[in-house]
This record gives sequence, C-alpha cells and structure tokens, in this order.
Amino acid sequence: MLRNKHIRLRPVSLRWQISVSYFVIIAISFTMLNIAVVNILEQNYISSRKTTLIKQANIISVVSAGYLQDANPYINNVISDFSDSLSARILILNHRGTVVADSFNDINILNRTLNHQEVLEALKGESVSQQYYLPEGQWVMYSTAPITADGDIIGVVFISSSLADIYDSISQVRSRLLVYSVFLAVAIALFSYFISGFVAKPIKDITDVIREMGRGHLRQRVKVNGSREIIELGNAFNVMSQRVESLDKARSEFVANASHELKTPLSSIKVLAQSLVQNPDAGLDVYKEFMHDIDSEIDRMSNIINDLLTLVQLDKDKPQITYGDVDLDKLINETLKVLRPLAAAKNIKLNYRCEEGAYIKGDAPKLKQMLINLIDNALKYTPAGGSVDVRLYKKDGRALIEVADNGIGIPEADLPYIFDRFYRVDKARSRSTGGTGLGLSIAQKIVYLHNGTINVESNEGEGTRFFIELPIDIG
Ligand SMILES: Nc1ncnc2c1ncn2[C@@H]1O[C@H](COP(=O)(O)OP(=O)(O)OP(=O)(O)O)[C@@H](O)[C@H]1O
Ligand SMILES: [Mg+2]
Repeated sequence: MLRNKHIRLRPVSLRWQISVSYFVIIAISFTMLNIAVVNILEQNYISSRKTTLIKQANIISVVSAGYLQDANPYINNVISDFSDSLSARILILNHRGTVVADSFNDINILNRTLNHQEVLEALKGESVSQQYYLPEGQWVMYSTAPITADGDIIGVVFISSSLADIYDSISQVRSRLLVYSVFLAVAIALFSYFISGFVAKPIKDITDVIREMGRGHLRQRVKVNGSREIIELGNAFNVMSQRVESLDKARSEFVANASHELKTPLSSIKVLAQSLVQNPDAGLDVYKEFMHDIDSEIDRMSNIINDLLTLVQLDKDKPQITYGDVDLDKLINETLKVLRPLAAAKNIKLNYRCEEGAYIKGDAPKLKQMLINLIDNALKYTPAGGSVDVRLYKKDGRALIEVADNGIGIPEADLPYIFDRFYRVDKARSRSTGGTGLGLSIAQKIVYLHNGTINVESNEGEGTRFFIELPIDIG
C-alpha cells in the first residue's frame, strides 16, 4: 500500500528568491510592453496602407473614367500598370458592380457581379478600405473608389492587396522583441542574483556567528555594516550576545564564589575535627571549645545556604511572593525588636522615627528580611558607641525608609559594586564579621520585586545611609 509522505520542500535561498522575482516581474512587463508595441505598430501600418490604397483607388478612378465611359479595352493596360506598381490586383466594375476589367485577366471573374460591402459603399459614392483574413490563411485589404463621369457614378475601382508584407514585418519585429526581452530578462535576473549576494552576505555572516554562539562560543560579535535593517539586526545581536556573555560570566562567577564561600567553613570544620581525632588525649575543655567552633562554622554554612536558597527563589521568573497590605511602621517596629539585643550587645543606639506611616502592597516577611539585612549591616559596620537611625516618611506619593549609621562607611570606588553578589569591601574584615556579601543583593532583589528603588550614600569614616523608596498602594 502506498503511504502519503509529507514532501518537504527545501527552502529557497534569499538570492534565488530575489532573482527569480526580478525575472518574473521583468518577463511580465516585457510581455505586456511587447504586446502594446506590436499592436500600435500593426494599427499604424494598416491605417497608412488604407490611406495609400484609397488614394490610389481614387487616382485609378480618375484615370480610368474616360476608358470606362467609352468601353475602351485599353483600360486593361492602364490597370495592369497600376497593378504592377502597387503589387495588387485591380478590378474595374461598372455601375451595377459587374467586373469589366481585371489586371490579372482572369476570365472567371469577368462579368461577375461583386456585392462586397466595399463595392456597395463605392456605388453610393464612398471610398472605403477594409482588411480581411481569408480562409487560405492570408490577410488582404479590399479598397474601393467610385468612378464618376459628369457627376454620375459609372463604376467602381476595386483594389485587392495582400497584407502579407505588413504581417511579415510585424512578426519579424515581434520575434526580435522576444529575443531582446528574453536576453534582457535573463541579464537582469543574473545581475540581481549578483546584487542580492550583497544583501544576503551580511545575513549569512550573522547566521554563521549565531551558529558559532550555539556551539558555546559566547564571545561573538558581528561586524555591523550594510543596509539600515542589517545594521539594526547586527546591533541587536551584539547587545544580546554581550548580555548572554555577561550572564554566563555571572553564572560561573556565582558558582565559583558560592563553592568558595561554602568551602571555607567546611575546611575549618575539617581542621578542627582532624585535630581532635589526631589528639585523643585532649581535655574536655579543648573538646568543648572545638565543638563550639565547629557549631558556629556550621551555622555560618547554613546561613550561606539559606541566603543562596533565598536568592535562587527570588531569581525565578515568577518568585513565590504573596502580596498583602503591609503597615510599614508596624513592620519596622517588629524588625527592630528582633535586632535590639544585637545593638545592645554592641553598645550601639538603635533609633527609629516614624514621620508619617505608610501602607503598601507587599510581601511582609520578604520586606522584613530586607530591613534586617540593611540594619544588620549598619550594626555590623558601626563601631561600639555609634548609632543607627531608621526613618519612615512619605515623599512624592511614595514611602521612604532610610537606614543611616555613623560607622566606617564605604569607599567611593566600592559603592557601585556593593549590591553585587558576594561583593565585600574588605574581604579580610568581613571574614571576622562573618559576612558573605549576599545580604545587599537579596535586599535589592526584594525592593525591585516591589517596584521600588534602593540607593546608597556613604562617606568613608563618617557613615552610610540607605534610601528605600516603595510605591504606596493607593487602591
Ligand atoms: N552600613 C554599611 N556600612 C559600611 N559598609 C557596608 C554597609 N553595608 C554594606 N557594607 C559593605 O557592603 C558589603 C556588602 O554587603 P552585604 O550585606 O551584601 O554583605 P555582607 O554584609 O558582607 O554579608 P552578608 O551576606 O552576611 O550580609 C559589605 O561587605 C560591606 O563591605
Ligand atoms: Mg550584610
């Protein structure tokens, strides 16, 4: 049994499409043009032939009038001369339309009465001319003129002329035009094939580069030149590939940083455990101290893992966020309650001023986490005796939270990077304070999810101030 197979046509190249389209357009236009030219030519030839024959018929009519009147047989010689010069057959008919002389001297036609339309018209005094297509496959033209004497119509001149010469030259013109047209259409198609190469080339180049990118070589850029659309395509591609490359770089940096951060506490745990294993005689207090250290390293690891999981969660296309009505004043008070013992332990004053309460639509636990990260930093990077001020107010229809400290501050050169993942100003210093460099990136991510903005101002040695702007829920 035969199965119907799907036939897949190979897509045609752009070059072919362009040149074939050109060929078709040119061929159609030339065909139409040729038809028009041939028609005009034919009309011109025929009408000029008509005029000539009618003129000749009238001349013959004048010349033969006397002969016809006198029934002079020399009339045959007269019309034979005209017949030779015109290469046409000439008949002279009497006033009843009966043939009385024939330049071809055909006895079959003599004395026959012709009732052609042209003869009837001539007998009424009109000179007419009309072409016919004979059944033998020939074009002829019948032209007539009345023969008059003393104001009476005494006969008719009838000229039968072949139009073969006209149609021969028309068909010659037609075939020449056809040759020229085919030649031109092919030449234009070839030319457009050549030209379209210039159009297709940059597209092909970009395709090659994209293919290379697909193989994993992300550092691809295309040379941007050609027409406007191609330049736009090239630019868009370069922007995209730059983005892909930086995303890929960020991804591998993230993995490297995360493994490194996790490896550090793990190495400490390993060293602590190993020294206990290798030193079985160690006293209980040594054991207690080492176990305490191991415990805090485990805490550190689990903090890092929690932060990483939070980031992964926030990075999702659709992070799990439950928006509800959040009273920011209440939220800040709750957050401060958690952090007050920490501030007290460090001997740092933790102040809060609510200038104007604000309700927003948001995810309370996530906003709380953001505040903890910011206030925790303020406490962490402020020496004992310092102070941390939290402020809540409204500005331009938005809620503003400020977290300011008079701590060590952030050097200007580091400010642009502090929201980057794992970025820490002073790696060695942060080691002692236990920071990983994820807190601010989490805070920023949370603010962005609430369509807010987060900014920072800082002077080294003087303090740091974070501004969080959140849209207020009006509805
Ligand atoms: N209030 C601040 N004063 C001074 N430096 C700060 C302050 N807040 C942040 N920084 C600097 O920015 C860096 C990044 O902060 P981030 O909260 O992201 O990381 P971290 O506090 O080091 O670690 P963690 O992930 O535990 O929060 C910090 O290491 C610190 O150098
Ligand atoms: Mg932090």
